[in-house]
Amino acid sequence: MKIAVVGTGYVGLVSGTCFASIGHEVICIDNDQSKIDNLKNNGIIPIYEPGLEELVKRNVEEGRLSFTTDLNAAVKQASAVFIAVGTPPRPDNGQADLKYVYQVAEEIANAIDKFTVVIDKSTVPIGTAEEVDAIIKKVNPKADFAVVSNPEFLREGSAINDFLEGDRVVVGVENEQAEKVMAEIYKPLSKSGMPVVMTKVRTAEMIKYASNTFLAVKLGFINEISDLCEKVGADIQEVAYSMGLDTRIGEKFLQAGPGFGGSCFPKDTKALKYIADSLADDSKDKNATRLTIVNATIESNLNRKEVMARKVKTILGKTLKGKKVAVLGVAFKANTDDCRESPALNVIKEIQARRGDVVAFDPVAMNEAKKVTTNIKFAKNEYEACEGADAVVILTEWPQFASLDLDKVKSNLKSPLIIDLRNMLDPNEVKQKGFEYHSIGR
Ligand code: UDX
Ligand code: UDX
Repeated sequence: MKIAVVGTGYVGLVSGTCFASIGHEVICIDNDQSKIDNLKNNGIIPIYEPGLEELVKRNVEEGRLSFTTDLNAAVKQASAVFIAVGTPPRPDNGQADLKYVYQVAEEIANAIDKFTVVIDKSTVPIGTAEEVDAIIKKVNPKADFAVVSNPEFLREGSAINDFLEGDRVVVGVENEQAEKVMAEIYKPLSKSGMPVVMTKVRTAEMIKYASNTFLAVKLGFINEISDLCEKVGADIQEVAYSMGLDTRIGEKFLQAGPGFGGSCFPKDTKALKYIADSLADDSKDKNATRLTIVNATIESNLNRKEVMARKVKTILGKTLKGKKVAVLGVAFKANTDDCRESPALNVIKEIQARRGDVVAFDPVAMNEAKKVTTNIKFAKNEYEACEGADAVVILTEWPQFASLDLDKVKSNLKSPLIIDLRNMLDPNEVKQKGFEYHSIGR
């Protein structure tokens, strides 16, 4: 099957490469010339994603994967075209901004010259597939096509595994010919046992928002329980572990932390709220669906990031003038270089607002971190960051921070103080080594 993927970012590049690796002929398109030049000429991938560089290289070498900025030519060759451009939240109301999706839909419309399946891979509000359908019809009334929804469930850091060995594939399709194309695309995965759910288009669009929002609710909940654990003298790690043993609850997404970040949960929760609010056009409408749980989750997470920043402030003291704080981890989670909506940024800002100096280290996110921070120094490793620092704050759950050489950290620090907002370290061990240690929910 010949596939085109428009948008070569976190989702588009992983999806395109994985489609190639299951045997399809894939062309990835982006309007960013330098991104495409780097991929084409030097095999440089624009993001950090474990295993992706090797997979891109192998599929390029084997002739199944290529890159271009020429959308028109690429779409003409393909039977299926995935739209994977960004859908950022509008700053004023959180509504998903669909301008890139619609722009790309117009460009695709102009290129269609045979039956083509156009697939929304980006996370888009319920009803977007119908909008894309209307745009294509308007631009090219003769176009023979069908619009499908095929949301992604790829976590940054484990995206390849989530694609090739994920829990399910969801396809919203209401056209028989398109359904056959989608079944063909995912045949290598369905044959190896992955459930491929074929459903209505609007249902598929809803499944994506409901899934991400549910996970966000789970995180909001465990973070609040973590705070309560601290107050009542319980241990959140043990509480979460034992809760997770109940298969009705499930062990995943129960790790308390400094709040959820990234390009998806903050954006998708707000977008779903916007959808519900916009349907309740009359504020007195008693039958309106208010999504109170989602609203509380959004608020709780915003509040959490501030609370974490304040917690650091309370421990370190009101003024940090002349003090240096080592920050370990800037990415919003481990195994990615993505710093979008990272809770680490709130903590860094708070330290700087108190006039403290920040020296940060992140194993892969330093370049991205430089783009979204000012006046911070970067160290070449965790131990250099600690040199002469008055405290160290762990903000991202990079596995290497769990096995810090505590003796080395102690001898590098000016004062032995660790604030661990990811509960990476063993409190007994750290205290035995003579540190003042603060973690969360225990
Ligand atoms: C994706 C999805 O699109 C989003 O809806 C989902 O919730 C998260 O993942 P992501 O892959 O993170 O977004 O976006 P990004 O890494 O910003 O990549 C988008 C790519 O599309 C960029 O490379 C950009 O240059 C490209 N693009 C954007 C185009 O090629 N054409 C456009 O018109 C706009
Ligand atoms: C998410 C979805 O999980 C994925 O299916 C796709 O839709 C894209 O969006 P992503 O944002 O890449 O993936 O990362 P995820 O692993 O979901 O983590 C999101 C945030 O929650 C991170 O800030 C992470 O640190 C936090 N988190 C996650 C916790 O604090 N505790 C946990 O137990 C899990």
